Amino acid sequence: MSTHNDMTTLSPFAQEVALTLNQRPRQLPTHYLYDNLGSALFDAICHLPWYHLTRAEEGLLKKYGGAICSFCENLGEIIELGPGSGAKMQHLLRGRRHIPNQKPHADNGNDGEPPSLDIHLIDISAAALDEASTRLESCENTLVHCHHCTYQEGLRRIAGETREQPSTHRRLALMLGSNLGNFSPQDSQNLLQDMSRILSPGDYLLLGVDLVKEEDALCLAYNDPLGLTAAFNRNILQRINQELGANFAQNTFAYEVIWNSRAERVESYLVSKVAQEVSIPGANMTIQLKAGEALWTESSYKYRLQGLQDMVAQCSLYARQSWVDEEAQFALFLAEKVT
Ligand code: AVI
Repeated sequence: MSTHNDMTTLSPFAQEVALTLNQRPRQLPTHYLYDNLGSALFDAICHLPWYHLTRAEEGLLKKYGGAICSFCENLGEIIELGPGSGAKMQHLLRGRRHIPNQKPHADNGNDGEPPSLDIHLIDISAAALDEASTRLESCENTLVHCHHCTYQEGLRRIAGETREQPSTHRRLALMLGSNLGNFSPQDSQNLLQDMSRILSPGDYLLLGVDLVKEEDALCLAYNDPLGLTAAFNRNILQRINQELGANFAQNTFAYEVIWNSRAERVESYLVSKVAQEVSIPGANMTIQLKAGEALWTESSYKYRLQGLQDMVAQCSLYARQSWVDEEAQFALFLAEKVT
């Protein structure tokens, strides 16, 4: 039996922990994996030889940044959801220098310089915004605007800002790093719809997405032999102990991943090795776990190009081009807003 008292007095973290732990199967709120330690562990994961995604994307952005920027002729604004360190956008921006016939904007007639660019960064992590904005402000002719909030809220704010009508410069919305893959299909569709809403016909959306691939490679990417991904997931138990006074004992949980081939997602779990009671005073709850009962920490959806094309089409976005790293099976997927 679990106790579950008045939620209104609880912190947002406590509320989400209570809500997700009371679901069946029990879950934990994925975005809370990223406290300072969690973010550092994730950065380290990106260097693992078994996690190819980050390197594959970086390679594609370096190689095709120019081609991508030349699609978005007269690019004046980039909006990125979850910029991380800002390095990914920086690779893309380097491509701007090599675009022939890029028209300078009215406020920037300099021949040799790339045209001025407004950059909007949306993230719930203040540390990520700090790092990314410092990096991107150092690029030529950029003006960085930070939105310290959820993706939905940031997009709502940007949608509320008046845009020059008809707009003379193009917008590019970015969601890289396969960040979309941590959202359920319904939430992804809603997010794509929100992104589409801030775009006008002729604007673009660029997604960086990990593709469906062989099961062994996927399981290794999410259950690495060094145990970094396990530590990244376990850290949420530590965070709940620290911030909500809980008594999760790490050694009573095993980290497991499975490839769900029907849903085409990697699922990550912390599985209780024993029957046990855990109390979480900060969330006003006590949970009884059976031996073998799992806490679902994360889903990482993998994509097919045709599926992406169908998904974006539902949001008035037309697939224009994709660039695939064949070895890692990772894609940059560009779509244009229509109507
Ligand atoms: C941030 N996100 C896209 C990563 C992923 O691949 O799902 C998070 C991650 N979890 C374990 N390894 C990496």
